[in-house]
Amino acid sequence: MSKLIVANWKMNPPTFREAEKLVKALTGSRLGARVVLCPPFVWLTDLSHKEYPGLEFGAQDVFWEKSGAYTGEISPLMLKNSGVKYVIVGHSERRRLGETDEMVNRKLKAALRAGLKPILCVGEGRDVRRRGLVAAKNFVKRQMQKDLAGVGAKSLVIAYEPVWAISTEKGSRVDTPEDAAEMIQFIKETLSSMFHASRFMFRVLYGGSVTSGNAGRFLKRPEIDGALVGGASIRSAEFKKIINN
Ligand code: PGA
Repeated sequence: MSKLIVANWKMNPPTFREAEKLVKALTGSRLGARVVLCPPFVWLTDLSHKEYPGLEFGAQDVFWEKSGAYTGEISPLMLKNSGVKYVIVGHSERRRLGETDEMVNRKLKAALRAGLKPILCVGEGRDVRRRGLVAAKNFVKRQMQKDLAGVGAKSLVIAYEPVWAISTEKGSRVDTPEDAAEMIQFIKETLSSMFHASRFMFRVLYGGSVTSGNAGRFLKRPEIDGALVGGASIRSAEFKKIINN
């Protein structure tokens, strides 16, 4: 199965022209992986309405209601009707702003109902990881049980992003491919027993300080199905190297 590389542009870039340039830099040559780009909402639909060979689009967030008096929110159907296929749900930067597991769960269910593919972000903070990998596994397991409560067995995409590894975190450092692979294997086993389904139904990505210098070491591990890339995804030459590593 080819690896999946998801670009989380976060609140970048400041103009549509730059957004388009980032997309166009990836077209014209064969890409070595499946690529999903997640630009901010304002640029997303202008891009997702067009055909860019080899590229798919995702949103960075979604709301759970279908329509109504929810100022500033975007519904799953709006995304679906704009050619958007994926949506990141439960990113740690949103959780930090107050998004709870219950909200993540509602978003996830609404996205699935509308036919979007959610990319659920899970991962422990520094305090938890200080207590070791077993504590981190327990944390991630509880997070998945809450976020996926009442969700039917579907082929799901999960991004394991230890919060302490995200490049913009103070004192961040990339996880080791060995620990990331062990956690990802654990995530697949947990999902497979939660859903009574084969481990192969679940794609689990690693995220946190992925660069062209370390991507190969993560992506060559059979347990790791791809990467969620933040900072390095808005530098096109760098991102292309990650895709084609
Ligand atoms: P990073 O971000 O690659 O810059 O660490 C990853 C993310 O926050 O999704």
